[in-house]
Parts: sequence; C-alpha cells; structure tokens
Amino acid sequence: SQDPLVVFTPSGKRGRFAKGTPILTAARQLGVDLDSVCGGRGICSKCQISPGYGQFSKHGVTVHENALSDWNSVEERYKSKRGMIDGRRLGCQAMVQGDVVIDVPPESQVHKQVVRKRAEARDIVMNPSTKLYYIEVQQPDMHIPSGDLERLRDALRDQWQLENVHADLHILQSMQPILRKGDWKVTVAVHLGDRENAPRIMHIWPGYYEGSVYGLAVDLGSTTIAAHLCDLHSGVVVASSGIMNPQIRFGEDLMSRVSYSMMNPKGAQEMTNAVREGMNALFTQISIEANIDKALIVDAVFVCNPVMHHLFLGIDPFELGQAPFALATSNSLRLRADDLHLNIHPSARIYLLPCIAGHVGADAAAVALSEAPDKSEDLVLVVDVGTNAEILLGNRDKVLACSSPTGPAFEGAQISSGQRAAPGAIERVEIDPVTKEPRFRVIGCELWSDEDGFDEAIGASGVTGICGSGIIEMVAEMRMAGIVDAPGLIGSPEQTGTSRCFLDGRTYSYLVYDATDRGGPRITVTNRDIREIQMAKAALYSGARLLMDKFGVDKVDRIVLAGAFGAHISPKHAMILGMIPDAPLDKVTSAGNAAGTGARIALLNREARMEIEETVRAIHKVETAIEPRFQEHFVNASAIPNSVEPFPILNS
Ligand code: FES
Repeated sequence: SQDPLVVFTPSGKRGRFAKGTPILTAARQLGVDLDSVCGGRGICSKCQISPGYGQFSKHGVTVHENALSDWNSVEERYKSKRGMIDGRRLGCQAMVQGDVVIDVPPESQVHKQVVRKRAEARDIVMNPSTKLYYIEVQQPDMHIPSGDLERLRDALRDQWQLENVHADLHILQSMQPILRKGDWKVTVAVHLGDRENAPRIMHIWPGYYEGSVYGLAVDLGSTTIAAHLCDLHSGVVVASSGIMNPQIRFGEDLMSRVSYSMMNPKGAQEMTNAVREGMNALFTQISIEANIDKALIVDAVFVCNPVMHHLFLGIDPFELGQAPFALATSNSLRLRADDLHLNIHPSARIYLLPCIAGHVGADAAAVALSEAPDKSEDLVLVVDVGTNAEILLGNRDKVLACSSPTGPAFEGAQISSGQRAAPGAIERVEIDPVTKEPRFRVIGCELWSDEDGFDEAIGASGVTGICGSGIIEMVAEMRMAGIVDAPGLIGSPEQTGTSRCFLDGRTYSYLVYDATDRGGPRITVTNRDIREIQMAKAALYSGARLLMDKFGVDKVDRIVLAGAFGAHISPKHAMILGMIPDAPLDKVTSAGNAAGTGARIALLNREARMEIEETVRAIHKVETAIEPRFQEHFVNASAIPNSVEPFPILNS
C-alpha cells in the first residue's frame, strides 16, 4: 500500500512520506516554511503545527485521530514545562502515521507576513539577516587538536548547512566559558551575510536562548529622526521613538546646513558628530523603552536624503550644494556600527539604501520599496511631501523620479501664523461659502471651533497657529468661498462681503481667529502666506507634471501621498489647490511614512535590499533644474488651481 499523504496548509504543498517521518522533516523536504531554532530537539517550540482531523474533501483525504504518532516524552516534557495551545503539536516530534492535513500557523513560519493595513501597499515578508541557531558542539579531545571555534563552526555546518561562518574577536573572547557553561550546547545568532560580507557570529549564549535579536529601521530626516526597533524573529515593532535632529542648530533646512559646512572649516564634522550623538541618545532611549540590551541590536537600516546621508557618514556635503550635485556614492552601503560610532552591537550591520540621484535620496528609494510603483499595473504617482518633494511616477514598464524644491511652507515655516504639527495647531478648516465664517479643528482637541465648550476644551494653551495640512485646507477653502481669486489675491471686504478681510499693508489679509481680548493669539492669513503656498504647490505640481510629460501621459490612474505630512493632507483640498494632478478622489490615498516603512521592509527582508538596488538602477532620473518645461508648468501652476490645465474630475 501507498505511504501516507501529508498536505500542508496554507501552502497546499503535499507529498507521501513513510510512516514515522517527523512532520518537520516532511516540511523540509517539500520546502514548506516551518521554523526551527533547535534543529528538531524539542527545545525551541518554533515548529508548532496544528493537525486537522476529519474529512478534507478539498484535499481528497480523511484524517483519522491516529494520523500522527502519540505524544513522546520530549513533547510531553515540553508541554508540561512550557504549556502549548490546545490542538498544537511539535512538528519535530509528531510523526506521520496516516494521511494528514497539517496547518502551519503564522508564528511557526520563518517567512511570515507582517500585517500592513493598506491593500495596495506591498506586504512585508520576514526574511531577516540575522537568525538564531541552537547547536551541539563537539567537546575538545586531546587526540584531535582543534580549537573550540573550529568545532563550533563544524557544528553550524553539519547541523545547519551554514558554511564559512566568521567570528569577531569579541566572540572569541567570550566563547570558551559559554561553551562550557552550556555543556557544549549553545545558541548562536548568525548574521547570514550579504553580497559583500561572509556570515558572522554576532552573539553566543549557553544552552537554548529564549530571547530574540533586534534591528532598527531609522528614518533620518532633516527635522526629525525616527526609529523603530523590530524583533528580528517576529517582525513586530517593539518600540518606536523619535527626536529632533540636533543638526537643527546649524540651520533649519538642508541648504543652510550645506552652507554652514562651506563657511566653517570643521562645520561638516560638527554636524556629523551632532547627528551621531543624537542617534545614540535615541537608541538608548528606545532600548530602555523596550527593556532590552543595546548589544542585542544587530542590524540597522537607514534612510535619508542625500545631504543627511553624507553628513551621517562623515562626508562633506559640499558637492551637493552646487550643480551638477554629485553624490560621493549613489550605491547602497553596507557598514558596521563601529564605523559610524553607533552604540549598539559593535559589529551590527548597517545598511543604507541607494540614492536615486543628487537630489533624490535613499528616502525616495525607501518610498519606492514600500509603494512599489514598479510592480503596479496602473500608473501611479507617488509624492513624498516635505521641504523637498520626491516624486515617482510609473508602472510595471518604467518608473521616473524627480525632486522638486517645495520649500518649507508645507511644514508651516514662512507662513505668518505657521507652525509644526503639534497640539494647538489648526489642522482642519471649513469656510462657509455664504457667510465666509471659518470653523476649524486644532490638533489635540476633538471639538470644532464653533462647538460648545471649544474654548474650555482647548484650555490655556489655546490655538497656537496653523500647521502644513491646515494651511492647505485654509487656502483651498478660501478659494472655494471666493475670498481668494484664481491668481491668488485676497479680496477687499467689499469684494468678498466679509469684514474678516482687512487691509494689511498694501494687500488684504483674512482674520481666522482672534483671542487677543483673552491674551491669546490673533491668527490671520496674509497675501504673502498665499504666495508661499502657491510657490510650494506649484513646485510640487510642476514636478509631477514634468514626469507625466516624460511618460507621455496627461493623467494618472492613482496618487499616493507619502510622508508624515502627506498622511494628514486632505486629497480634496490638495486637488482644489492644484497641488496634485486631477484624479478621482477615491484614487488618492495616503501612505503615511512610506520611507520609514521602506526602511522596515529592508530591515526585515534581506532580499528586499537586493530588489531595491535593482529597482533604483532602473529608475529614470529627471533633473527638474535643467528642464525648460518645468518652468513653464511652474508659471501655469501658480494659479489656484491652475491657469491652463483642466481639472475635469475635480469640477464634476
Ligand atoms: Fe525546536 Fe521542534 S524544532 S522544538
């Protein structure tokens, strides 16, 4: 008679195996993703499976209660000591006895999927660079002279097929007592290496190590540095933290930092030190929050714009301040933590994503990794809104990229009542088209400004200013209410029919909120504010439009707004303003911090690194500064929404 049939779900892989074959062995032979750290010794419980019993007509099998072997003593011992979910078995101990359907739960899969909420974004599949291996090492023998490390390496080769594994001096220094303490059974964390580095032992523990190792995904922005600490086994973000970039004291924006380095002989070095110190403080903070030893952080991925990239690496950004904007290198970089004086595991692997061009950095590459325009069937425009807008346009056939100097207006800078997004900032706005009266919501308060109890609810801090997403809604609402005309001028009280418009120097301003009678602020929108927003949105639109020209299209299928700020923009208002091209509103989505997500993907999946390197090589770079069409689009795009381009979908 035939050997029993084993069907694995969810993979659907199946095969016939002799009675007595452990499920783990069957899984390995079929290439089913079933985890194991202890190599089938019944210690780690990573191989847990759920056998199904009964009729499985879909798979053509009936599974009887005795399809698997009875619990053996190893499995019994594990269950009584550690407990197991009902219905689960250890895949390395349970053996095939009859036809059986085996479900591999997500936590038992190495390449498990880390859940992302958005349907159109790519999934994060675990394939981390560092993994744990439990091994039994041959004891020393006077007749066979070999070092402890050599026997440990033999064990990795024989028990896990890991060849050519290196060890740094700090491992050699600590290894011998650990081997003896563990009675020659140890767990090692091995960084599996990459195209430039051999596999390397990062840690060694006596016996079976219950814990995990960790990695950092860091988004190094010119204003803030944000880090996610991830468990490299489960993929779970165990802590997230952020700080202001300490380089701010050398200049608010990138160009002022580049000029600081030009004016001061040690300027670049000072800024390098500042960002690394800030980073180390952040890593300390995040490891305290997660309650882990910083030495357990063995991998880190950084994404940043080109200037931050150079300053972080200790490279003078001088060349990035002038045409032709030559990067020191546009390739990805694989370094070690101690190269950069980072206080985590000293030989932790550092990975920097490739830069796309002199103005389009590793942050844009990370956005490309997260949003995957190169895998999209439909034509997608991805806009990462910041002081510089990074713009990607493409589909499966090709992807174009450019950056456009939007300036800091979208971050609330250079706006008379502008501020960063923080409690007290106006973020949502509506203006009644008849009465021209505004109502708004501020960050940190649930109520609209015209609701009862608003003044008490906002408390002493009150309304402090308008943040970037607030100013976009404000200008768009002012345009719809006829307070601002298409060229961008605020009308007089007679023209607009509201006394909220008042002469303010030579132009008119619009009064939004006045608490001066209570010692509070007076918030207005001046005609200069409107100008600033017009320039910023025109830059963004013209960048997008230029890419559309190059692609040979006059509309896109969908638009993704990325960036911390992008997450808060109302698509409708962005379109009324003419900041983004015309598209169906339900096709405009927000991706949140896509650069940060891209960093997390590169951290958790080592193949994704190779993938993005290839993708970036294939991206066509467009330099806005040398394109005459860019200027032309810019002029047309200064009007609200635009002087020549139609917005048919918006108008319908
Ligand atoms: Fe470790 Fe089964 S493989 S307990």
